[in-house]
Amino acid sequence: MSMQDCYNFQDFRRLAKRRLPAPLFHYIDGAADDEWTAKRNTEAFNSVALIPNALADLSHLDLSTTLFGRKLAMPLFCAPTGMTRLFHPEGEYAVARAAAQAGTLYSLSTLSTVSIENIGKVSDQPKMFQIYIHKDRGLTHELVERCQLAQFDALCLTVDTLVAGNRERDRRTGLVMPPHLTLQSMLSFALHPRWAYHYLRSEKFQLANVADRISTGTDSLVSVMNYVNSQFDRTVVWKDAEAIIAQWNQPFAIKGIMSVEDAKRAADIGASAIMISNHGGRQLDGCAAPFDMLPRIADAVGDRLEIILDGGIRRGSHVLKALAAGAKACSIGRSYLFPLAAGGQIGVERALTLFRDEIERDMILMGCASLRDLSSEQFMRVQ
Ligand code: FNR
Repeated sequence: MSMQDCYNFQDFRRLAKRRLPAPLFHYIDGAADDEWTAKRNTEAFNSVALIPNALADLSHLDLSTTLFGRKLAMPLFCAPTGMTRLFHPEGEYAVARAAAQAGTLYSLSTLSTVSIENIGKVSDQPKMFQIYIHKDRGLTHELVERCQLAQFDALCLTVDTLVAGNRERDRRTGLVMPPHLTLQSMLSFALHPRWAYHYLRSEKFQLANVADRISTGTDSLVSVMNYVNSQFDRTVVWKDAEAIIAQWNQPFAIKGIMSVEDAKRAADIGASAIMISNHGGRQLDGCAAPFDMLPRIADAVGDRLEIILDGGIRRGSHVLKALAAGAKACSIGRSYLFPLAAGGQIGVERALTLFRDEIERDMILMGCASLRDLSSEQFMRVQ
C-alpha cells in the first residue's frame, strides 16, 4: 500500500499504522477510557441526513469562508496537536506548509516541537497559536507576546485539559512522551528502521516553546503528561481568559466549549470564536459529541461569535452537515496526523485536497453554490 492508494481517512490510518512504531500509532488513534466519546464524535454525523436541492444555478462555486477576519479557501483547517514531529521528521512544518498550500489556517500547539518564531516564518497564510494557561502566569504572558511578535492571526485557549486524560492504550504500549530508549521501544525501533533513523538523528523532540522555562533536573526531556499535570492551572476561571483577551487584543477563540452556558459566557467576555470540542474524545469519556451540541449552541450564540466544529470529521459531507447546523468552519486532528505519518507534507496535502474535492462535489450534489446557502432546512434528523 502506498500514498497513491489512500482515498480516505481509513486508508491513511492503515498506512500510518504500518509506518509508525505501535506506541505512536496508538497515541494518535487512542482516546480516553472506553473511547466511547471518540467514536460518538464521528457517529453523531449519522444522526442527520442531507436533503439536496435540484436544478440550482451552479455556474460559480464558492468554497471559501472567512474566519478571524481572514479568508480561507475552504471551511476546514488543521487543529493544534502536540509533539507533531514524532510522527514524521517534517512535523509541524509539513502541516503548516500543507495548510498554506490549501489556502487554509494552521494552528500550532503550545506543546509543539517547532517554535512559535519558526512557524511564524513559514507562510503568510492565517496562523493560530493554541495556548494553555500555565501556573506560571508569566510564561502564559510571554507566549502571548511571542505570538504578537511572530504575527500570528489568532489565539486559541484550550480549556479541557486541566488534567491529562486516561489514555489506557498509552499505558499498555508503555508510551513515554517524548519516547526514551527502553527495551520495549528498541523493539519498536527494530521493526521500523525508517522511524528509528529519524529518532536517532533528531534533537530529542523538545517542547520547543516551553522546555527552556521548565526545570527538569538532570533530565533534559520534559515528559508531556507530567508537564500537563504539573504546569496547567486548575484554578483558572473566566476572568483569566478575559485577561488574555485584553492582552492579545486580536481574534481569540476558546477551544473545548461544550455547553450552551459556556458558549454564552465566551461571547460575554468578548471571545471572537468558540471551538466546540471534546479534544477528540481524549479527555472526558462519556462527554457529548460536538456535532450533537452544535444546533443548540448555534441557536444561542451563532450571531455573537464564530463557531468552529472540532472532532470526528472524516468526510466532506461531515463538514457540510456542520455548516448547515450553524458552524462557520470545521477543524481536524487525526485526519491530518495519519496522512502526515503516512507521507509527510505530501500526505497532508493529499488529505486536504481529498477533503476539498469531497466538499466541492457534495456542494454540487446538494445544489449549493455557496457555503452560505447551507441551512438547517437541508438536513433532517434520522436517529
Ligand atoms: C490533539 N489535540 C490537541 N488539542 C489541543 O488543544 N492542544 C494539543 O496539544 C493537542 N494535541 C493533540 C495530539 C493528538 C495526537 C491528537 C489526536 C489531538 C486535540 C485536537 O486539537 C482536536 O481537538 C482533535 O484531534 C479533534 O478530533 P479529531 O479530528 O482527531 O477527531
